[in-house]
Amino acid sequence: MSIKGKNILLGVSGGIGAYKACELLRLFVKAEARVRVIMTEAAQEFVTPLTFQSLGAEEVSTSVFEPKLYSLEHVNWADWGNIMVIAPCTANVIGKMAGGIADEVLSTQAMAFSGPILLAPAMNVKMYNNKAVQKNIAYLKSIGVNFIGPEVGHLATLITATGRMSDPAVIFSKTRQILLGRNDLKGKRVVVGAGPTREPLDPVRYISNYSSGKMGYALAEAAIGFGADVTLISGPSNIPVPPGVNIIRVETASQMQSEIERFCIGADYLYMAAAVSDFKPASFQKQKIKRTEQGLKLVLHPNPDILKSLGKNRPQIVVGFALEIENLEARAFDKLRDKRLDMIVANNPSEEGVGFGSDYNRVTILTRQGKPVKLEKLPKFDVAIRIIEESIKLRKRDVPKNKR
Ligand SMILES: Cc1cc2nc3c(=O)[nH]c(=O)nc-3n(C[C@H](O)[C@H](O)[C@H](O)COP(=O)(O)O)c2cc1C
Repeated sequence: MSIKGKNILLGVSGGIGAYKACELLRLFVKAEARVRVIMTEAAQEFVTPLTFQSLGAEEVSTSVFEPKLYSLEHVNWADWGNIMVIAPCTANVIGKMAGGIADEVLSTQAMAFSGPILLAPAMNVKMYNNKAVQKNIAYLKSIGVNFIGPEVGHLATLITATGRMSDPAVIFSKTRQILLGRNDLKGKRVVVGAGPTREPLDPVRYISNYSSGKMGYALAEAAIGFGADVTLISGPSNIPVPPGVNIIRVETASQMQSEIERFCIGADYLYMAAAVSDFKPASFQKQKIKRTEQGLKLVLHPNPDILKSLGKNRPQIVVGFALEIENLEARAFDKLRDKRLDMIVANNPSEEGVGFGSDYNRVTILTRQGKPVKLEKLPKFDVAIRIIEESIKLRKRDVPKNKR
C-alpha cells in the first residue's frame, strides 16, 4: 500500500541537481523502501557511487557490464523495480529514452523497464526550451512516462527560469502517488482542510495551535493517488504542496470557512483535518500592544463551527477529526452526531510519537453505523489511505442525506 518495502530504481544523470538525488534517496530509505541506484558516467562527475552507498542504497550500478545487473542472484534489476525514478534527468537521457537509444547503463535499464517511470528533468532554461527537448518530453508523456517539474527557480547560473529540478520532497510525494496508483476517485472532487489557523491580536501577535498540517497534506496527497481532483485549503504550514494539488492558503478561521464553503460547491468529499481556532480575540489592536506591569486580559469570541454550519453545499461525504485526550471515542461520537458528519477520525495527540508534528498517527475511525475501525500506529500517508478507503466504502453504501 505505502512505499514501505517497495523496490525503487533511482537513476541519476549528469546534472548539477545530482546532489539533490542524495536527499531523495534518504527520503526513500527513511520510508523503508529498498533502493538501487543507477548512475551515468556524467553523474559521477557530480556525486560518487560511494555517496549513495553510504546513504543507504542497497546497490549502485555504473556500468552496463556489471554481472549484478542481470545475475540470477540479484534478480534482473529491471524486473526487480516497482518504479524507476530518474532525478535529475538530463536533456540527453530524455532524448535517448524518446529515441530508443540504450548506449550506457541508465538508458539501457530504462529501456528494459516495464513498470511506471518518473522523470524529474533539470537543465539550463535554453536547453529546456530547445525544440527537440520539448518534442521528446511531449512524446514521452504521450507514451505514459510521468514527469515532475522542472520548476521555475534559481538555476545553477543564478538566473531565475524554468529548469530547476523539483524538490526531493515533491519527487518523493509524486513517487508515492504513482505507486498508490488507484482510480477509485477518478472524476471526484475532494476538498481537504489542513493546518492551524491564526487569529491576529495586533500587527505582530496571533493565537494559534501546534497543528503542523501533516495529516491534511497526507490526505490531499493520497487523494491524488486515488485519482481525485483535489483542493487543499491550508492554514500556515511549511510542508511542500503535494504535486497535482490545488492549494489555497488562508490564515484565519473565517477565511478557512469561506474558502471551504466556496470549494465545497459541487464537491464529493470533504476531509476537515484543519485545527481551526475555537476562539478569536474580540478585537484587533491596530498598534502593537504595549507591555504593562498589570498584565493583560484578553477577551475572546467564539469562531464559527465550519463543519456544523456547512449549508446546502455540503459534500456527500463529510469527514471530521476529533482531537481528545480523555474519553476519546465517546466524545468523538458526540461530535459526529452534533456536526452531522458521516465519519470522524479520533486521535489523542498526547500519545508518544504520534499526532502533532509527527509523521505518524494512531487513529480510530468512527461512523454512525458499523464498528469503530482502530488502526495501529502508521505513517500519516498510510492513515490517509485508510481514511479515504473507509469514506469510499461509506459513499458506496449511499445512505440518502434525509435519512440521517
Ligand atoms: C557543470 C555542468 C552542469 C550540467 N548540468 C546539466 C543539467 O542540469 N541538465 C542537463 O541536461 N545537462 C547538464 N549538463 C550537461 C550534461 O552533463 C551532458 O549533457 C552529459 O553528456 C549528460 O550525460 P548523461 O545524460 O549521460 O548523464 C551539465 C554539464 C556541466 C559541465
